[in-house]
Amino acid sequence: MENLRIPGPTPCPTDVLQAMGKQMINHRGEEFGQILNRVTDKLKQLFQTKEDVFLLTASGTGGLEAAIVNTLSPEDKVLSVSNGVFGERFATIAEQFRAEVIPLRFEWGKAADADAVRRALNAEPKIKAVLVTHNETSTGVTNDLASISSVVKEFDKLLLVDAISGLGSINLAVDDWHLDVTVTGSQKGWMAPPGIAMVSVSQKAWQAHSNARMPRFYWDFSQAKSYLEKGQTPWTPAISTVFALSVSLEMMLKEGLANIITRHARVGQAARDGVKSLGLSLFAEESHASNTVTAVAASDGLDIKQMLKVLREEHEIILTGGQQTLAGKIFRIGHLGWVTEGDIKTVISALKVALPQAGFRGA
Ligand SMILES: Cc1ncc(COP(=O)(O)O)c(C=O)c1O
Repeated sequence: MENLRIPGPTPCPTDVLQAMGKQMINHRGEEFGQILNRVTDKLKQLFQTKEDVFLLTASGTGGLEAAIVNTLSPEDKVLSVSNGVFGERFATIAEQFRAEVIPLRFEWGKAADADAVRRALNAEPKIKAVLVTHNETSTGVTNDLASISSVVKEFDKLLLVDAISGLGSINLAVDDWHLDVTVTGSQKGWMAPPGIAMVSVSQKAWQAHSNARMPRFYWDFSQAKSYLEKGQTPWTPAISTVFALSVSLEMMLKEGLANIITRHARVGQAARDGVKSLGLSLFAEESHASNTVTAVAASDGLDIKQMLKVLREEHEIILTGGQQTLAGKIFRIGHLGWVTEGDIKTVISALKVALPQAGFRGA
């Protein structure tokens, strides 16, 4: 079996896979309603929220689009806090729907700075919403969302958060941090296959929703809410992924959120220590290195493509490279969801063998 260590999709436990194989049921029937209600309640615990949480049949990007079209109008000014590929994507979606995006960019590999957010909000009082990526998967950086959120709330702005690759693995407290829309995806830390985006919606987001004029249909939160009251989703959901989530979320609550967060911290540390012990350097500034994905800089003759090939063909380990301008410059190890320190030690041992075969002259 391949050892899939990319930052999503992630491996699923056997019980989760078995749940995926169950026969279809009526998505407008009582049984599905009970499952949907249970899944939603469990998600609320893991999002640390008492507000609404919806399941949308989509990958994470659909959830990001939902966050924007449900709360904003064309020409609204939006501050985009970005330090990687996914921060840029969130901004692009807002632009496509004709928001006026004011970019606040940080060097890739560095964390976003809350003071810079404060300066940007001071400079443009008409900003309506702030877009932030919690865990920038493309660079392996976790932004200090609690600090950024406290600044955004000083200005009483709407805060839309891409928490796709961090939520459920790294601490994120939706209610305590006053996050207005928070988005994640089933294939990340949730130990389930792709297919469902999960979003939380605060009271402030509902207020914005009632005035928002961007076109929306499939993503309409009002529809999601009124159907959820009947134990349904407005449109046919990815039923198998919901079955999977009902099992994986049960496993997560059994382990306990605090324990899951600690495990990811240990695993993240093992990944960082491991790559450094091989003579490689981290791409992300270490103070903000992610506990779900480690980005490693190529150096000393390392041919990343060749290294990924050797790992795949000779060790059955799947890592991934850099995206966009980071292609050929970094590789990434995913360690979220169903993962232990042992899994990461296996990756590090294989890297030790594969690196010299891929031209690496360090160490
Ligand atoms: C931080 C972040 N945002 C957005 C996405 C896009 O999610 P999806 O591929 O599920 O649409 C990802 C997926 O890798 C991600 O890690």
